[in-house]
Amino acid sequence: MQGKRTLKAGLVGSGFAAAFHHEALRRVYEAHVEVVGVYSTSAERREAFARERGIRAFASLDELIANCDVVHVCTPPSTHEAIAVAALAMHRHCIIEKPFTGYFGDGSPDFNGKTLDKMEALAGAMSSVGRILEAEQQSKGTIAYAENWVFAPAIQKEREILEKTGAQILWMHGEESHSGSHAKYYGMWSHSGGGSIMGKGVHPLTAALYMKKVEGRARNGKAIRPVAVSARTHAVTTSDWYEDAGFLRTSYTDIEDFGLVHVIFSDGSFADIFATELALGGVHNWLEVCTNNHRTLCSINPNNSLQTYNPKEEQFKDIYVVEKIGTKQGWASTSPDEDWFTGYQHEMNFCYKAFADGSGLESDSQLAADTIAVVYAAYVSADKKGVEIEVPGTGF
Ligand SMILES: NC(=O)c1ccc[n+]([C@@H]2O[C@H](COP(=O)([O-])OP(=O)(O)OC[C@H]3O[C@@H](n4cnc5c(N)ncnc54)[C@H](O)[C@@H]3O)[C@@H](O)[C@H]2O)c1
Repeated sequence: MQGKRTLKAGLVGSGFAAAFHHEALRRVYEAHVEVVGVYSTSAERREAFARERGIRAFASLDELIANCDVVHVCTPPSTHEAIAVAALAMHRHCIIEKPFTGYFGDGSPDFNGKTLDKMEALAGAMSSVGRILEAEQQSKGTIAYAENWVFAPAIQKEREILEKTGAQILWMHGEESHSGSHAKYYGMWSHSGGGSIMGKGVHPLTAALYMKKVEGRARNGKAIRPVAVSARTHAVTTSDWYEDAGFLRTSYTDIEDFGLVHVIFSDGSFADIFATELALGGVHNWLEVCTNNHRTLCSINPNNSLQTYNPKEEQFKDIYVVEKIGTKQGWASTSPDEDWFTGYQHEMNFCYKAFADGSGLESDSQLAADTIAVVYAAYVSADKKGVEIEVPGTGF
């Protein structure tokens, strides 16, 4: 790394994602990184965030962008486009959190995600994708899509297996589920651009799209792309048949809390992705890959790298066990280093290496654009109770 210039990182947002980005940046070893500061809309929170980490709190987005090389977009999905376009216009690299972008309504007070015309949502989301891609084309900066599943060690090991065995993927199934998101804005379509499919399903979905990209690249140098989708959604916790026992979050405004997406690829293979807010017992994040020469189960979280038995809740009060677990008593798949298994530090390492030496990005704007195209085509399909819908092209 001798002689390499230092890349200056700026964080936009001072919430949950900004905190784990900052933590992951401390573990980047393939490039020199200096975190210059943070900007978020709440002055009080950005100052507290900056103070705790010994970085500068910037009073405006423009000032932050002017002072860094890489802008981390760690804000609610409805704000990603404006922040990314501003950073790219100033020729900065961007690391954009999931979901890339979407359709967040027309700004009217009576907007409702449940009654929204999903064709309008698909068109709106693809327009937003187009504006970000156009900004990237005009910029000297590059977009890295922060889909941490792509960089999770389990997924990267499967990448190596696919590349070295020349496997043909026949079918994948995967899931991201838990008992409900913590974020305040989550649950309102106008902020999150959708429900379980958009908020959770994008993780295993992007990982599945990535696997077909890897397969195509290994077999003939060309990514195998998604072409069609069928989907179903349900809003269980806000339905009149749901009996609330007090364990699941129920305060969703106008989104689905269950989604199933069946994606068909151009070579005829397919993937089934589940995403829900209805699963107790901690996060349930996995992708299974069934190929013509092997089968792999990538257990992102939980996994059995460590199992603990705690006979008394109180004993583990100061011990972090695993994401979203309801109780610390009894047996648990306690994670010895959750961020490592989840891929956060590997993601930052890959991105900064790519920005520093020009090596390729494994999770780029194409993967991000394809993910949004599948998500919103899925919402159109779900609105028609599962009718197959063509996935729009993303210009790549
Ligand atoms: N990859 C993952 O595992 C993962 C996990 C959680 C969240 N996320 C993603 O990270 C993003 C942020 O989620 P979060 O959980 O950190 O939310 P959060 O509510 O904890 O934090 C959001 C932050 O953005 C700030 N903000 C809002 N609008 C802004 C604007 N226009 N300009 C600047 N700052 C603004 C808020 O003040 C707050 O500091 C979302 O896109 C979410 O989907 C990803």
